[in-house]
Order: sequence, then C-alpha cells, then structure tokens
Amino acid sequence: MSDKPNKPIMLFDCKTAQNIIGQDKFLKAFENILNHGAYCQGPETKELDEKLAKYSGVEYCSTCGSGTDALTLALMAWDVKPGDAVFLSSFTFVASAEAPVLLGATPVFVDSDPNTYNMDPKDLQRAIDEVKKEGKLNLKAVIAVDIFGSPCDYDAIIKIAHDNGMKVLSDSCQSYGSVYKGKKAGCIADMTATSFYPTKPLGCYGDGGAVFCHTNEENELVKSCRVHGMSAEDHYDNVRLGMTGRMNSFQGAVLLQKLTVFDQELKDRARVASRYDNELSNYFGKQKILDGCESAYALYTINCADRDELMAYLKENGIPCGAYYPRPVNTQTAYAKWNNRPLPVCEKLSKTVLSLPMTPYLDDEDLNYVIAKMNEFAARKSCKAA
Ligand SMILES: Cc1ncc(COP(=O)(O)O)c(C=O)c1O
Repeated sequence: MSDKPNKPIMLFDCKTAQNIIGQDKFLKAFENILNHGAYCQGPETKELDEKLAKYSGVEYCSTCGSGTDALTLALMAWDVKPGDAVFLSSFTFVASAEAPVLLGATPVFVDSDPNTYNMDPKDLQRAIDEVKKEGKLNLKAVIAVDIFGSPCDYDAIIKIAHDNGMKVLSDSCQSYGSVYKGKKAGCIADMTATSFYPTKPLGCYGDGGAVFCHTNEENELVKSCRVHGMSAEDHYDNVRLGMTGRMNSFQGAVLLQKLTVFDQELKDRARVASRYDNELSNYFGKQKILDGCESAYALYTINCADRDELMAYLKENGIPCGAYYPRPVNTQTAYAKWNNRPLPVCEKLSKTVLSLPMTPYLDDEDLNYVIAKMNEFAARKSCKAA
C-alpha cells in the first residue's frame, strides 16, 4: 500500500514531541522560571550541563547560546587567532567555517569522502603538508564535522591532527546522540560543540548549544569566554576576550523535558533510516555509516545524478526534501578568498545530494509512500537508461 497519506509528510518535526511529553510539563517548568527569575543560566541550565555531561560520558559540559557560539567558544578557549590554520571540510553548514574566521584564523578547506560525505583523512594530510610547505601559518586545529549526524573517521583524523601538534574539535551540531565505536558524541574528540536548534536531533524551542570538554581548565576557559572573558575571582575584571554566549533558562527547561524522550527518538530515527536503507532502489547512493558507529540521523541523505529532477518530482508529489548543501562553503562569496584547493568530491556532492523526510514520527503510511515515489522515479530512469 502506498497511497498518499492525507496528512502532510514532514521533512523535520519540531512539535510532536511536545504532545508526547505533555504541554503541561513545559508550562509548569516555564512557570517555575517566571517565579524564580533567573532567566539566563538559571538552575535549569546547570542541571542540563550535568545531565548532558553524564549522557555523553564526558567530564564537563557548558551549555551556551547556539551551535555557532559553541564552536567559537571552544576555539577561543584554545586561543585560536590570526596566523592560525584551522582545517575543516567544506561540505558543511557555513557556521563550521564562520567560527575560526570570526577569530581571525585561516580556514583550510579539506575534501570529503565520497561515501561517508565526511572529511577525507587522506586529503586532510595533503592539506597539512601543503600548509607546512608554505610555512606561513601555524597548524592549530581540525574541525571534524559529523555531517547529517554520522560520525567522522575520528581514529584517523585525531591521529593525523595530534601527530601534527593540533587539537580536534568535533562539530557535532548535527550528531548529538550519535555513537563512535562505543563513545557517544561529546566525548570523542578533544572538545565537542553541538547545537540544539529546533531541527537538530535534540532540539530546543529557540537557539541553544553546548561545549563538551575533558579538562577543568578548558571548561573554565569556555565558561569565562561565554561571559565576555570574565575572571572567575573578580566579576568586574575581564581577563580575556569573550562574548555573550549564555543559554537562557527557558531553553534549558525545554531540553530537560526533551531529554526524557531522546533515546526513543533516536531509535525511531534509526527505524526510519533502516527502512530507507533496505527499501530504496540502488539507483540512489546512500551515505555510508562507518562500522561500529551509529548516526543520530539529523538528516537522511542520498545522492543521485538527477538530483534537481528528483527534487522537483518529490515536491510535485507532496514530499518535502532539501539539498543540503548546494554550495560548498569554499564557493560562497564571503569565503572565496580561501577557495584555493581542489575539492572535487565536495563539488560533486553539492550537485547530487538530497535529504529526505527524517523525523522520529514518520509512520509506515508516510514511509511506504515516500519509498514508493522514490522507487518509481528510479524505475523510470533505469528504464530510459536501458
Ligand atoms: C554542522 C553545523 N555546524 C554548526 C551549526 C550552527 O549551529 P547553530 O545554528 O545552533 O548556531 C549548524 C547548524 O545548522 C550545523 O549544522
């Protein structure tokens, strides 16, 4: 059975969890904040810091205003500055590159692996060798982005980075809840930044993010930078440059509620992905998840040579979808001056990838229909090619 469902199919679903958890729980938590009056970094965000650190199996978590803040705060804690090279894949959301650039560092764009869509460690090594040979920049950090929720090849990336005296910041903005060889996102790299933007696997009802780290020293630096570089001893002495990066208590309260259904939501995202994996035609390329890893499936992304035609066909049939990302960061206007390495895989991916509906709340009726329409498209194309 693959009739069109008579309810809309969602690409993202930020609202259903509210009904499952119960709106009354949110309202009660909000009322509590109105009563205690600590609107920024109140008791809710402190409780959340502890719960998230425990969830990730890491020593420290500091919640903050967004995923972009989290990336920037982590790099500030490492004192990233002009003259530093920060390596990252170009096939990502612009914020991964924006954070080092805001601090005056030089982004060095690295190509992606055609199967995982994540940073290709071989090209990372090549990019490092090129920067070393040129001798103008200080090798500082690697930002490893877990694109669409799927963990990077951390063993390889961390080894290359550490061998070259660099730290690895995991951009886990799409992958909170993912697992890399038994370790949860948050405790894999030297530091991790995540986002709780509403469409993310763990989403709040506005902007939010968090930085995870292993040492008290780094966590104290992140916390200081989160409030303008404030000294821990004298709140009127700002001892380094920082920013306003606090999380508000309302988002903390939302996330405490959302955490209660998070594991079930991750299982349901995996259920949806497994139907796509098993039932979509081989006409479509599917993102490879590394052995021993679990994606958080922020998005389920295929690749297809006729991407734009497929996208139009799905939209005509009432199936929402999105091309994430149609332009690698290095080709975007504000980043053009760092567009100085060949990135053929990124370029190709940007022309062929398509993300399908992915929410924990898609039911069999939705999935039967999406899969049938995708396979109809594939059959027509394969017929023509034969
Ligand atoms: C890979 C990646 N990095 C960073 C960010 C930035 O997160 P935020 O929107 O919370 O600032 C996002 C958000 O879409 C992202 O997908």
